[in-house]
Amino acid sequence: MSKLLVTGGAGFIGSNFIHYWFKEHPDDQITNLDALTYAGNLDNLKEIAANSNYTFVKGDICNPEIVDELVEAADIIVHFAAESHVDRSILGPEAFVETNVKGTFVLLEAARKHNKRFHHVSTDEVFGALPLDSEEKFTEKTLYEPHSPYSASKAGSDHLVRAYHTTFDLPITITNCSNNFGPYQHPEKFIPRMITNLIDGDKVKIYGDGKYVRDWLYVTDHCRAIDAVLQKGKIGETYLIGGMTDDVNNLAVAQILLEYMNLGEDKIEYVKDRPGHDRRYAVDWRKINKNLDWEPQHTFAQWLQKTVDWYRANESWWRPLKAESEKMYKQSGQ
Ligand code: NAD
Ligand code: DAU
Repeated sequence: MSKLLVTGGAGFIGSNFIHYWFKEHPDDQITNLDALTYAGNLDNLKEIAANSNYTFVKGDICNPEIVDELVEAADIIVHFAAESHVDRSILGPEAFVETNVKGTFVLLEAARKHNKRFHHVSTDEVFGALPLDSEEKFTEKTLYEPHSPYSASKAGSDHLVRAYHTTFDLPITITNCSNNFGPYQHPEKFIPRMITNLIDGDKVKIYGDGKYVRDWLYVTDHCRAIDAVLQKGKIGETYLIGGMTDDVNNLAVAQILLEYMNLGEDKIEYVKDRPGHDRRYAVDWRKINKNLDWEPQHTFAQWLQKTVDWYRANESWWRPLKAESEKMYKQSGQ
């Protein structure tokens, strides 16, 4: 039996991870430390909130007192908590430096003091952008070249985690994953924003020319990959995690969605591009496949449809979040 300290467990991936973990490891204990920012939502966890092996602590990862006590009591720290949205990092970068860099530092200091296993959940965005129409993919050897305040702050956190291993011998692992989709994703993000706009009779908003490529992965596959790393990963190593979509651009994702929702292309609206917009991400996940026997199990088209069905069935979940995020987009002109 293990005791996990999950940070950011009330967010999109963290809450999916907690549900996944209790299904796969029902005897383990989880403490979820989350500050409940605009992105944190305890509704994501209401089915397990009363479980005797689950504890929620509302708190900031930048607070050393809260963090120290919780880290001491845990066997493993699984660190999801972050400011995660690129567009918000352009409007207000400070919170990204604070949570993503300082918060990670505070957790690392506690992990070092108590010598705890530390798993850092990171992103493929730290590698910057790949050219369109190339075969090139990110690998564990790709140099860091982040472009947004979000990806730069995540890159800073990755470097700190690796430094704590090299310098202090802290038992760490890092995963850098591509774009996730699935239930409980905030309606500010591309796929849920499109779905909820269309449910409301509005148009999908496509930034720039729409020929931006992301490597989509269903969220449960990300959780399975983190599980594989926690169980079998080599200490000190980084593993890249990616999906099965081969160069599907944003416009094509919108078209697949419109077809499933029986709507036409008149529902597409081109809006102002994101400053510094990364052209293409693609992840080579052969290392985790070969060494830890992981591969994605959920096909994009089928699970995109299931995701649409989830948002249709859970309007009361996303409705209160949508007005605030659309206000944010009004500010950025998108
Ligand atoms: P999210 O924005 O949905 O959730 C973030 C959670 O962290 C929220 O519950 C929020 O309340 C909490 N949080 C924020 N600041 C905090 C603080 N100072 N102290 C404690 N809690 C705080 O994010 P997500 O999409 O679930 O991403 C989770 C992690 O996965 C992030 O580290 C992100 O960089 C990484 N990641 C995300 C994706 C993706 O596609 N969403 C892909 C790869 C990696
Ligand atoms: O690659 C992993 C990253 O994926 C994670 O680290 C981030 O936390 C996560 O937010 C995500 O970042 P992106 O910037 O790629 O995701 P987002 O959903 O914001 O946008 C996906 C693409 O869609 C991107 O090219 C911008 C575009 N877009 C986005 C929105 C919200 C649009 O064209 N229209 C939109 O309305």
